Amino acid sequence: MAWSLKDLFSPRSAAAPMSKSSFSDLFVDLHSHLIPGIDDGAKTMEESLELIRTLSELGYRKLITTPHIMHDMYRNTPESILSGLEALRIELEKEGIEMAIDAAAEYYLDEHFIHLLGNEKLMTFGENYLLFETSYTIRPYALFEHIYAIASRGYKPVLAHPERYSYLHDSPEDYHAIKKMGVFFQLNINSLGGYYSTPVKKAAEWIVDQGMVDFVGSDTHKMRHLDSLSKAKHAPYFQKLFDKNTLLNPTLH
Ligand SMILES: [Fe+2]
Repeated sequence: MAWSLKDLFSPRSAAAPMSKSSFSDLFVDLHSHLIPGIDDGAKTMEESLELIRTLSELGYRKLITTPHIMHDMYRNTPESILSGLEALRIELEKEGIEMAIDAAAEYYLDEHFIHLLGNEKLMTFGENYLLFETSYTIRPYALFEHIYAIASRGYKPVLAHPERYSYLHDSPEDYHAIKKMGVFFQLNINSLGGYYSTPVKKAAEWIVDQGMVDFVGSDTHKMRHLDSLSKAKHAPYFQKLFDKNTLLNPTLH
């Protein structure tokens, strides 16, 4: 199609809404559930491949996928995760999908986790970052002591989607206190588009405004998360995320 300089400087181009930053600036996504059949994420290999193809189209170049390790629900181990990862890598290669993929885990803070912490080498990414989550509604018993235990074992704790915990929503002082303990915050991009709820969106925006975000994640389980992700890119806070926070995703390449 022919175009000229006039098109570039037309008032219409100037007025067109444009987001400066994009998923390709992040390079790496570090929170997803893409290993088929081992948690509540992708159910089949075909579904995994479709999700990964779409993540590639969105601009990501590397995925660190993080299956749940939650004793009551998903009894994953490093062995189950790494063998699933290997099978997935083989299929990616066969299908000619160019995407680097590693695995860690999303640990649920419970008694089982505390046991693992004391007895096993846990699954981490980058420079010993450990992704963990808690109940969405009930404040965990001894939250601060458990965070201290993670850090004292030499791990760098990364709190998955801090905006999703309703027990923190009315406690800005707790967000600050957790941050002050050296916890890294991983925000879900979909929270900014209102995918989960209005209170979660508001909490996410507040965290962005505070400049507290260290990592962002897609938390992809299903295609609906990626449909929503492409819309979240146009949320007003998406650009703010990049402007007001130092995002560490690209350091994980
Ligand atoms: Fe997750």
